[in-house]
Amino acid sequence: MELPIAESWKIKMVEPIRKSTREEREEWLKEAHYNVFQLKSEQVYIDCITDSGTGSMSDRQWAAMMMGDESYAGARSFFRLKDTITGLTGFEYVIPTHQGRAAENVLFSHLVKAGDIVPGNSHFDTTKGHIESRKATALDCTVDEARDTQLELPFKGNVDLGKLEAALKEHGDRIPFIIVTITNNTAGGQPVSMENLRGVRALADKYGKRVVLDSARFAENAYFIKTREAGYADMTIKQITREIFDLADAMTMSAKKDGIVNMGGFIATRHEDWYEGAKRFCIPFEGYLTYGGMNGRDMEALAVGLDENTEFDNLDTRIRQVQYLAARLDEFGIPYQRPAGGHAIFVDASKVLTHVPKEEFPAQTLTVELYREAGIRGCEIGYILADRDPVTRENRFGGLDLLRLAIPRRVYTNNHMDVIAVALKNVFDRRESITRGVRIFWEAELMRHFTVKLEPAK
Ligand code: F0G
Repeated sequence: MELPIAESWKIKMVEPIRKSTREEREEWLKEAHYNVFQLKSEQVYIDCITDSGTGSMSDRQWAAMMMGDESYAGARSFFRLKDTITGLTGFEYVIPTHQGRAAENVLFSHLVKAGDIVPGNSHFDTTKGHIESRKATALDCTVDEARDTQLELPFKGNVDLGKLEAALKEHGDRIPFIIVTITNNTAGGQPVSMENLRGVRALADKYGKRVVLDSARFAENAYFIKTREAGYADMTIKQITREIFDLADAMTMSAKKDGIVNMGGFIATRHEDWYEGAKRFCIPFEGYLTYGGMNGRDMEALAVGLDENTEFDNLDTRIRQVQYLAARLDEFGIPYQRPAGGHAIFVDASKVLTHVPKEEFPAQTLTVELYREAGIRGCEIGYILADRDPVTRENRFGGLDLLRLAIPRRVYTNNHMDVIAVALKNVFDRRESITRGVRIFWEAELMRHFTVKLEPAK
């Protein structure tokens, strides 16, 4: 009999978690105004609100932290991190930042100005925010297939090259760069193929543009290329990673995902002019160039994390766990963005809570119901997150309405996945009886989902 595949690590330190009663959760939900961002973490049993900064570091990473050089300038830890990044990507110039959005802020301060257009595949909210706050436009050129959650395609995160070329033709001189997000978080943690990255590169060259990769989950993207794209099965993750970055000019990185650290990020590029430009903004916003918002010890842990998480076994354990949860949901017939993505399952709330009108936010309602059922915290990636149209101030109901269950790296076991799956099944089984959703009674103008106050719709 063939041996099953188990985790590529064993557990050395544990953190107790506690269950709660339905009555407690009902009370906490009220106090949190039905917004799970307002819950205290002790009120959560299994926390799938994000995979960002929530991973478990390895013993090698913890050991590396003891070697942190906290010198203000020229710290050894910076050079160790820089060498690791250059080794993986080929990018010579590295600027550390305190997290991913800070990397965006520093780089875009140099590159993006009012009236610009930045085409890409489903820009992440902070990426879009840093473009729009500069009075520029984030132009989404994701393939249309990403909008059909039931379509089973290997690379649903891809850029639609036709849309991209049309944008380059029409707005050529207003485009400072093209940005490709790997994996495509907003479309469901869906990967981008090497073929597609090659296509983007060819168009960039044709129109004289540079390509930035939003690389938060680049290693998971490399895993999918290895396991799904013809010609890559025999290559190592590190070889594929290098081929990915050979097709780009620069990267912004939230190291809290595939770097498996709790906080950190960076910019890396092969171009001295971009480095010189971005440098000017790193110092006032983030800090001096050899720490840019990170401790020396954190740069050490990140260097090790990047090395470890570009090894196949670590990624295989991780992606298989997400796929395990997906298989359990398949057993129960629960619809999600197919196929399962790299870091999360995105449940299609509009196909589950069919009686809840969109004005009452089905995905947020499902998020609340799952918490009520078992103390599991996911998050809404849907109509509340989409914010209002800046001009008409109407809710934007044009996109998908999903409940994201993000799986932290190396944190939960498949028993936890079983609890999530069965809790969701219990909600799914009573979906016909859920006819009302939630109503907003207070909201911020921008990024409202973090602080929005809701009440049950009546
Ligand atoms: N880019 C992508 C694709 C992301 O998913 C994120 C963060 C960022 C950039 C910003 O990085 O948080 O370090 O400032 N995503 C988190 C999430 C918050 O839950 O998906 P950051």
